[in-house]
Amino acid sequence: ASALDVDISKVPLGSEIRVLIGGKPFFIRHRTPAEITAAENVNVATLRDPETDDERLRPMQDGKLNRAILITSGACTHLGCVPVGPAQGNVGEYGGWYCPCHGSQYDTSGRIRKGPAPTNLPVPNYTYVSATVVNIS
Ligand code: FES
Repeated sequence: ASALDVDISKVPLGSEIRVLIGGKPFFIRHRTPAEITAAENVNVATLRDPETDDERLRPMQDGKLNRAILITSGACTHLGCVPVGPAQGNVGEYGGWYCPCHGSQYDTSGRIRKGPAPTNLPVPNYTYVSATVVNIS
């Protein structure tokens, strides 16, 4: 199994970095307060793949969720294309990511909101090894 340490302090606010682990893409997004609020304010009951924003975050070493940092798979759950996002200047209709292959739209929690993708962008296993470094595996 592959793993990677990522310095989240290097992720620009309002944007993301993209990494490959074992050949698979992952997104590390530094969300703005407005993006966090948007993710929290969604009525989960209306979602195709119902998950709260909290369920998609992981605790830091102090046990608190880091709401600013969202880490997801970078493979669209439809047929595996890599969606575009803030790094490409296109966050789609719901502020998260847009998959140009067949039009799936993801929100600022990486949840599927529109288009053919059946499920949210999966959250990988990751842990905070310090306040600024996460180990993704
Ligand atoms: Fe993303 Fe089809 S692969 S919408």
